Amino acid sequence: MASSNSSSTIMTTSFGFMISLAFIFAFKLSEAQSSVPAVYVLGDSLMDVGNNNHIQGSVLKANYPYNGVDYTDHKPTGRFSNGKNTADLIAEKVGVPTSPPYLSNTNDVFLQGVSFASGGSGLFNSTGQGFLKKTISLSAQVDYYTTVHHRLVQQLGADGAQQHLSKSIFVVVIGSNDVFAYFEDDDIKNSKTPDQYTHEMITILQGLITQLHSMGARKLVVSGLPMLGCTPAQRFGSSTEDCNSDMNNMASSYNQKLSSMLSGLQSSFNDISYSYIDTFAVLNDIIENAANYEGQSVPAIYILGDSLMDVGNNNYINGSLLKANYPYNGIDYPGGKPTGRFCNGKNSADFFADKVGLPTAPPYLSNTGDVFLKGVSFASGGSGLFNSTGQGLLRKTLSLTQQVDYYSMVHDRLVQQLGAAGAQQHLSRSLFVIVIGSNDVFAYFDNGNNRNGKNKVTPDQYVDQMITILQGLVQKLHSLGARKFVVIGLASLGCTPAQRFNSNTEDCNSDMNTMAIKYNQKLTAMLSGLQSNLHDINYTYFDTYPVLYDIIQNPANYGFAEVKAACCGLGKLNAGAFCTPLAVYCPNRTDHLFWDKVHPTQQAASILVNTIYSGSPPHVTPMNVQQLIAL
Ligand SMILES: *[C@@H]1O[C@H](CO)[C@@H](O)[C@H](O)[C@H]1NC(C)=O
Ligand SMILES: *[C@@H]1O[C@H](CO)[C@@H](O)[C@H](O)[C@H]1NC(C)=O
Ligand SMILES: *[C@@H]1O[C@H](CO)[C@@H](O)[C@H](O)[C@H]1NC(C)=O
Ligand SMILES: *[C@@H]1O[C@H](CO)[C@@H](O)[C@H](O)[C@H]1NC(C)=O
Ligand SMILES: *[C@@H]1O[C@H](CO)[C@@H](O)[C@H](O)[C@H]1NC(C)=O
Repeated sequence: MASSNSSSTIMTTSFGFMISLAFIFAFKLSEAQSSVPAVYVLGDSLMDVGNNNHIQGSVLKANYPYNGVDYTDHKPTGRFSNGKNTADLIAEKVGVPTSPPYLSNTNDVFLQGVSFASGGSGLFNSTGQGFLKKTISLSAQVDYYTTVHHRLVQQLGADGAQQHLSKSIFVVVIGSNDVFAYFEDDDIKNSKTPDQYTHEMITILQGLITQLHSMGARKLVVSGLPMLGCTPAQRFGSSTEDCNSDMNNMASSYNQKLSSMLSGLQSSFNDISYSYIDTFAVLNDIIENAANYEGQSVPAIYILGDSLMDVGNNNYINGSLLKANYPYNGIDYPGGKPTGRFCNGKNSADFFADKVGLPTAPPYLSNTGDVFLKGVSFASGGSGLFNSTGQGLLRKTLSLTQQVDYYSMVHDRLVQQLGAAGAQQHLSRSLFVIVIGSNDVFAYFDNGNNRNGKNKVTPDQYVDQMITILQGLVQKLHSLGARKFVVIGLASLGCTPAQRFNSNTEDCNSDMNTMAIKYNQKLTAMLSGLQSNLHDINYTYFDTYPVLYDIIQNPANYGFAEVKAACCGLGKLNAGAFCTPLAVYCPNRTDHLFWDKVHPTQQAASILVNTIYSGSPPHVTPMNVQQLIAL
């Protein structure tokens, strides 16, 4: 390879890994990972996944060893890297396949995104071009995107394409090669000051981003330059192996201009959002505080609870009618399939998993011998804190106590597989989500003459018993490694369609609501007491009651038109029967708060989980899940 351009390759291998970390860090802070239909990648060798392989008469390639030595099958692919590169890691993070190189199939519509990135390229058309050196300048990459955009509009219609693109991510990583070119080419260096040069770079980039915006781009991820002067190639030029400080200064001056250009663009367009990655600062921080960048991910989610979280455990319970594995449940789930979720589509467990970038934790009963390294769900429709809740003739469920017993078996297997210290490390960073109590409250009112029904014990006594049982189980989970809890309080249960059904005036059941509020108060006190006693737990408490109540009072603020009746059921308020194939269902599920007579719709679950994840006090205390994860 021509020596004057080897620097960009060297830069990639020395900084590639850390830049990937910087990106992954940025993605964690942003919420970019939820429902991204496509990723469009523009840039240089940091992101190239093979475009340059298709360029004739150029040596700017990486389709030979030892590139790819750590890639699948140890194969060189055109990535300027030992293994996966940043483009691959971003794709994994947002849950789409790595965007393929545009030149691999220039006629495709690339519905899940495409990469135009090309090793050696820059903002100036001349960067990376020369004898035996050819690359796709950023400007040519945007021209290629124009073609793809055109095809998208043909295939999806103008509105459909815009809808698709506005949710997609446009990643732009460019500029390093322009800076290298400035220092390597005396003609450039003598004709422009560093300030003029970076100013021109920004002007070009601004024009190209404006073009992308005019073709639908709304979510941008733009990377600044790293400390290019500290690459081995630059230290090589110093007798003391020092960084090239002129080059570092140029990079940081470019970054300053870039971040103000981006914020200017945002105010003039009003409809873009972006994540600017100050690669320079992030890398500096990574180098200086390496320890802070470990242990922030969530290795696993353990879910305990009732039908709000059940993703199919009850399907495996014999001789029980407490199931949701028949239509119209699942009508909006991928494939339109009933799965055992008591919902029209995804439920809260799915949205939780989406948020942290894990697959939905599978039902424990689907494979009771598994170690479930990424988590598992014990949640079971109908269950409660009391062993008796939800049990009866043709009704069977996994009580919370039973769920914790099952967890202890999973814990044993984890210890076998990872060792005691490894399992503890794994569990202490994992989330334990607990959603329970609604069925106990229902049971109190439904079975008044039971041993602890409403005719035998006071609401206060009952709630105290519930809290005592929960406290014991949380302590047991703690003794089995759990350190981060997400505990969900009770909703305004008296306002479910099932309760309004019992009122001539379709009012809420206020006794039931009062009990829910009382439980929530005692629950918060119990949790904070537990934290003082145990010293090493942290938690998110979500006060569902006021959040749901506000939705019911102000439906339009949340996009709902119907908050009293169930979508699917029979009779008054569709609350006379559960959602079965004999029921009727509403045509528009996105404007209903309740799917059936007790369960929220997918739309409602999504709103609730968003709040738990990134909401603030007083509804989410003492911290939200995003902050809990970051601890
Ligand atoms: C790069 O080339 C294109 C034509 O291929 C031209 O429209 C554009 O102005 C050039 N950009 C710069 C910065 O010279
Ligand atoms: C349900 O019945 C099947 C077949 O009889 C059996 O294999 C399975 O273990 C039972 N499930 C439970 C949870 O007992
Ligand atoms: C529930 O049942 C288990 C045994 O299966 C028992 O150890 C536990 O004490 C019971 N919990 C309550 C609250 O009765
Ligand atoms: C996490 O919990 C521990 C004690 O359980 C506490 O010392 C620490 O301050 C908590 N962290 C935050 C950020 O609240
Ligand atoms: C469904 O309801 C939502 C929210 O109220 C509304 O935005 C949408 O237009 C409705 N869709 C149809 C097909 O009526």
